[in-house]
Amino acid sequence: MSILVGIETSCDETGIAVVKDGSQVLANVVSSQIDTHRLFGGVVPEIASRMHTEIISQLMKEALCEAGLPSNGKCPGIDGIAATFGPGLMGSLLVGLGFARAAACAWEIPFLPIHHIEGHLFSAFLGEKRPDFPYLALIVSGGHTQIIQCDTPHNYQILASTRDDAVGECFDKVARLLGLPYPGGPSIQEAAKTGSDTAYALPRGLSKKDTLDFSYSGLKTAVLYLLREKPDAPVPDVAASFQRAAVDALMLKTARAIKQSDIHRLVIAGGVAANKCLRESAERLDAELFLPPFVYCVDNGAMIAAAAHSRIEHNCSLPYDTPATASIPLSGIS
Ligand code: KG4
Ligand code: ZN
Repeated sequence: MSILVGIETSCDETGIAVVKDGSQVLANVVSSQIDTHRLFGGVVPEIASRMHTEIISQLMKEALCEAGLPSNGKCPGIDGIAATFGPGLMGSLLVGLGFARAAACAWEIPFLPIHHIEGHLFSAFLGEKRPDFPYLALIVSGGHTQIIQCDTPHNYQILASTRDDAVGECFDKVARLLGLPYPGGPSIQEAAKTGSDTAYALPRGLSKKDTLDFSYSGLKTAVLYLLREKPDAPVPDVAASFQRAAVDALMLKTARAIKQSDIHRLVIAGGVAANKCLRESAERLDAELFLPPFVYCVDNGAMIAAAAHSRIEHNCSLPYDTPATASIPLSGIS
């Protein structure tokens, strides 16, 4: 039996979780900074790192209490502590890494650095079945849009990436154009409920090109021009048409990747994996699906602990002194 603490502070959520044997979540506490950043229309890095610093000790106590472990400062009987080392906002990453390393040092237990995207990937395995190898993963977050092939544990081959904006970033920017609150994904999903997804013809990025790569800047610009031309366009119709186009582009390239690789197991993870339109559309792909429960789609500590558990299991933990890194591909760490 192993009990790991996972800490996630790469962006605007402070997440701490206690996870048993890589999949059983004993505690998962997340403090979101969204209400603060919403006032600025997006994440302000300096504010983000300050807010992580202010809350992280209290959140650790809460997570330990929720898991039924002692929180008196002594080692709570855990086997290791994992934290995100990157990619993400440098100041925010340093808060989580520094805190986790200090706790590991004081409690004389291993410290396990984890790549944020590997964390997202493992969110699909929390409490659920796991795919056999090989499998594909569609990673859809605020900073990433990628298709990854995983043939053996912790070996990742990036088959496709976005050439410009990430899909979550595009949801956020289009929400802003529509006057909807940050983060844009949930706001657009809500607004789209009463709209028609065929109201406006919007581009599916790079759909005609012979590549698996994605592009979302054209879609964002198309919405900008649409709103300039038709300032009275009903928000639900624009939101629904946009959401359809964004999801279609993901499905098109993923279907192509499944066909080309002949791999019919697909993980979908990252904040945008919470999108209902995406989850429903993915059911029609020719693949067995592995989706994270809604609560683990956005950033959290449980996914970091789950990834760390697997790295320990496969004897490939990253070095203790892995530095905080703002930008690093998943393929660059294995
Ligand atoms: O994975 P995540 O929490 O943070 C990053 O690693 O970037 O993803 C955040 C992104 C934001 O862009 C947010 O708008 C998007 O996920 N998102 C959604 C939904 N919930 C969150 N996008 C579409 N539909 C949703 N329901
Ligand atoms: Zn994330």
